[in-house]
Amino acid sequence: MKPLVKWVGGKRRFIKDIDPYLKNYKRYIEPFAGSAAVFFHLNPQNAILNDLNKDLVNFYKNVRDNPIQLLKSIENLFEVKTDVESYYLLRDEYNSLKGNSLRKSAIFFYLNKVAFNGIYRVNSRGIFNVPVGKHKTYYIPTESEFLEASELLKNTKLYSISYESIMDKVNNKDLVYLDPPYFPDETSKFVGYTDPAFGKEQHYHMLTLCKNAFAKGATIIISNSRSKEFAMALYKTFDSSFITAIQIQTNRSINPNANNKNRFVEMLYVIKKEQ
Ligand SMILES: C[S@@+](CC[C@H](N)C(=O)[O-])C[C@H]1O[C@@H](n2cnc3c(N)ncnc32)[C@H](O)[C@@H]1O
Repeated sequence: MKPLVKWVGGKRRFIKDIDPYLKNYKRYIEPFAGSAAVFFHLNPQNAILNDLNKDLVNFYKNVRDNPIQLLKSIENLFEVKTDVESYYLLRDEYNSLKGNSLRKSAIFFYLNKVAFNGIYRVNSRGIFNVPVGKHKTYYIPTESEFLEASELLKNTKLYSISYESIMDKVNNKDLVYLDPPYFPDETSKFVGYTDPAFGKEQHYHMLTLCKNAFAKGATIIISNSRSKEFAMALYKTFDSSFITAIQIQTNRSINPNANNKNRFVEMLYVIKKEQ
C-alpha cells in the first residue's frame, strides 16, 4: 500500500528500484521510517519501525489502535478548516498539545497535508513552524487504507528513539533499510528533519553500527546521496565484494538548484553476504 503521509525524502518514487533487494529476511527493520514508503510497500509480517519524530510515531500508534476514529477526526478537520487562518489556529493548537492524543495525531496529519511542501520542521524550542502551503486538493487515504495500515502496524514494534538503539536490536536474518537524512554534501544541504541534525560524524558512526549488524548476519540496505566521501567511508567499512551499488535517478523536490532538477542521482547500497 501507499504511505499515509508525505515526507521529505520519502521513497515512494523509488520503490521499483528498491523492491528487487527486499527479500530473504525474517524480520524487517526501518530505523529512519519517515513516511515508511518501503515498509508499506513490503507489507512485512514481522517488523520494527522507528523514527526520532515522536509525533509521527504517535500518529502510527493511533492508526494502529484507532484507525476509524482517527480518520473521522481528520475528515472533520478537512471539512471546515483548510483556509489560511484555520491552518495557523490548528498549528497553535498542535504546539500546545502534549502526549499522543487522537486529536494531536489528527492535527499532525492535517499539518502534513496543508503545510508548505509537507515539510516537518521545528525550531530550537520544538515548536512546529512551517507556513501554510498552496495546495488545491488534499489526498486523504480511504477507510480501507487506514484499516489495512492498522493491521500491518499490529505486526510491527514501533519506537521513537535514536536509531543507534534500534541497531542494537538487529539480529541474524534481519533486513535493515536505512534512509538517514542525506550526507551533508554540496547537492544535499537539507538535513534538518528533526533535532539534533544528522551530520557527517553520525553517518560515519552509522556505518560502524551497520558493520556490527552485518557481522550478526543481517542484510543492510542504505539510501544516500551520491556523496563520494560517504561511498569511500562505506567501502572502507565493508569488503567490496559484499556491496552492490545502485544509482537511482531522482527529481528530488528539495533541490537548491531548480535547473538541475532531473539530473541528480541518489545511491542505494545493498550489503549482504551472498550477492
Ligand atoms: C530521509 S527521511 C526517511 C524517509 C523515509 N524513507 C520515507 O520513505 O519517507 C529520514 C528520517 O530520519 C529521522 N531521523 C533523523 N535523525 C534520526 C535519528 N538519530 N534516529 C532516528 N531517526 C532519525 C527523521 O525524522 C526523518 O523522518
